[in-house]
Amino acid sequence: FMKRRKKWSRYPPGPASLPFLGTMFSVDFHNPHRSFSQLQKKFGNIFSLQNCWTNLVVLNGYKTVKEALVHKSEDFADRPPFPIYEHIGYGENSEGIVVARYGHVWKELRRFALSTLRNFGMGKKSLEEHVVEEAGFLCSEIMSEEGKSFDIQVLLKNAVCNMICHIVFGDRFDYGDETFKKLLQLFQNSLDEETGFLPQLLNVVPILVRIPGVPQKAFQAQKELMDFIDVAIEKHRKTWDPAYTRDITDVFLKEMEKGKAAEENGFHYNNLRLVTLDLFTAGSETTSTTIHWALLYMLLHPEIQSKVQEEIDRVIGRERPPAMTDQASMPYTNAVIHEVQRCGDVVPLGIPHRTYRDTELQGFFIPKGTTVIINLSSVLKDETVWEKPNEFYPEHFLDAKGQFVKPEAFLPFSAGRRACLGEQLARMELFLVFTTLLQKFTFVVPEDQPRPRVDSHFALTNSPHPYLLRALPR
Ligand code: HEM
Repeated sequence: FMKRRKKWSRYPPGPASLPFLGTMFSVDFHNPHRSFSQLQKKFGNIFSLQNCWTNLVVLNGYKTVKEALVHKSEDFADRPPFPIYEHIGYGENSEGIVVARYGHVWKELRRFALSTLRNFGMGKKSLEEHVVEEAGFLCSEIMSEEGKSFDIQVLLKNAVCNMICHIVFGDRFDYGDETFKKLLQLFQNSLDEETGFLPQLLNVVPILVRIPGVPQKAFQAQKELMDFIDVAIEKHRKTWDPAYTRDITDVFLKEMEKGKAAEENGFHYNNLRLVTLDLFTAGSETTSTTIHWALLYMLLHPEIQSKVQEEIDRVIGRERPPAMTDQASMPYTNAVIHEVQRCGDVVPLGIPHRTYRDTELQGFFIPKGTTVIINLSSVLKDETVWEKPNEFYPEHFLDAKGQFVKPEAFLPFSAGRRACLGEQLARMELFLVFTTLLQKFTFVVPEDQPRPRVDSHFALTNSPHPYLLRALPR
């Protein structure tokens, strides 16, 4: 008992806790990373919160986050339960990848997804060729705007979502397709549904989410999104020919055929649905929002846009589509893309982790089962690391000779065992789409429009406020 008390006396400090709600009123759930930044100033890099009776610890700054995710990777590798997803099929042994508990099934599914993405060449084309082709479709759509002022956000979502559609269902949608429009709207609505006070409350008081009718009402878009995926998988299954692999769904179906052992490793129908949903939700919004930020920064910094275009003209020219092999010869463009990710700070709080065992961090005791929020925003803007943390400054990623360098605190994809598994794909999409766009167009603020806002809108991801641009063909 004494030992336990001594350990808990080293539990991280935090704001005063109220009965029942704990510290939930200390955080603005529509802007949590801003609240965390204030709490960090008051309590230091490791502080605690309490959502009702759930203990949370928030980790801030590069040094702390690195120690937890890299040096004590397994201690922090678990995920807390998310009862708000139960109504769409999450449960025991059916957790997909993103919110799966740390363990054997998560490992198998993660390894499966990583290796399938790596070997992607199942259709006739490589993943890189698909990305380049989609970037071409995107340019045609932009061209049809004829240099007039427009909002590019939906087109970017179309393009990036199509890349995931290729990987998952071996096909793409035309941008005007009504089903596609509906799908994209559902993504946005389901992100909005998962933001704010209510989902936080329902996650820590699961009995509320189990009241009949509540999840359907609170998470209608989430449910419709899952229904959409169910229909698509069913259609896919009907046309499946085991002799021919079209996409990741076919590879999964093949695994399922292997029988009981495969099923115990997580390869069953419910996980196919959930992994599919994971790839869409984790891989679409993040990447398209990053490109949306990239264009916003180009509007705000035309001199940087010109320097990127000079490099594109010199290394690739105006006609040949960009290729990943160009990246090594384009340090400036590469630095700009990295700085976009740092400033855009698209996943500011990552995805909640949970301690897998009792652990210690910088002298603090954190018990097993504590929810841990990794404040990635505080790493990407860490004043002890970055020369100009709150400015758009591509030189953060260039050495004195103009060569590309990547500071260790560049962690938009997080780190350790739960680090983003789509990082390679995302990097490829960012590089190929950004260079294709700037090869073909110069982006400017329309004369009648104000300078776009640089602050962000938070709904699990940080995205730019809507803005209009003109794309002038080069
Ligand atoms: C997890 C960022 C694109 C699939 C994550 C995490 C972050 C992140 C911060 C949480 C890591 C953690 O828990 O510590 C990003 C960013 C992207 C991007 C900034 C684009 C710019 C993608 C893409 C895919 C993907 C394209 C796949 C197609 C996943 C998956 C996880 C994940 C499956 C869960 C990993 C696990 O729990 O084991 N991502 N991501 N992401 N991401 Fe990404």
